[in-house]
Amino acid sequence: MKKVENCKLISKTEIIDGIFDFVIESEDISKEAQCGQFLHINCGDSTFLRRPISICDAENGKVRFIFEVKGKGTEELAKKEVGDCIDVMGPLGHGFEIKDSVKNAVIIGGGIGVFPLYKLAKNINADVFLGFRSKDRVVMEDEFNDVSNMVIVGTDDGSYGYNGYIASAMEQYLDSHKCDMIYSCGPMPMLKAVKKIAESRGIKCQVSLEQRMGCGIGACLVCSCETNKEGTDRYAKVCTNGPVFYSEEVTL
Ligand code: FES
Repeated sequence: MKKVENCKLISKTEIIDGIFDFVIESEDISKEAQCGQFLHINCGDSTFLRRPISICDAENGKVRFIFEVKGKGTEELAKKEVGDCIDVMGPLGHGFEIKDSVKNAVIIGGGIGVFPLYKLAKNINADVFLGFRSKDRVVMEDEFNDVSNMVIVGTDDGSYGYNGYIASAMEQYLDSHKCDMIYSCGPMPMLKAVKKIAESRGIKCQVSLEQRMGCGIGACLVCSCETNKEGTDRYAKVCTNGPVFYSEEVTL
């Protein structure tokens, strides 16, 4: 059973409207956390279920997570103030697989899906693609630039950077660059496009899935996703088998 800890909130910033950047103190989580894992957070007394929120970064006793206020739970979480304690379970799940044999990696994230990719970008050499709806939703560009070979930012409405879907920018890049692994996290249409591009070119691809969760530890089956396997293995649990899967394993 994963440990539940009361962790002190030591930094809180609303980086853009409705998106909060929290840093909590936890020696254990910061030591254990792997790229792409998540925390299961008790947002407050008025919400029964914990909320899964991906780890953005973890080092030196500090754990950072960034979330968008989307409902009652995250609304309550956003009201926490520096000095308050947050009830956190984790780190949980199966994160990104980092292989020494990979020589040319690409990271692609869309919207709030860029946050779980930051620790990964710090840990590997990769060219990075970040997509957002519009210029006013662009986040973490400088931070990714500081830790990556190259960063391409795009907006769906063309108000900043590459004009169009970020998967299209990556596809154009792949026409003239080698790539042997794609790491991705973002909205489902982006993940579907990335999976299709990767598989049509024979490139291995890992996708981080967002899913509603109950227990977060494999007991309730709320988080099932369909795989390409037959029989009893047809459904996987996003909380324990994922949230990161190889694209060829799952049906998106
Ligand atoms: Fe309960 Fe995954 S959230 S099994």
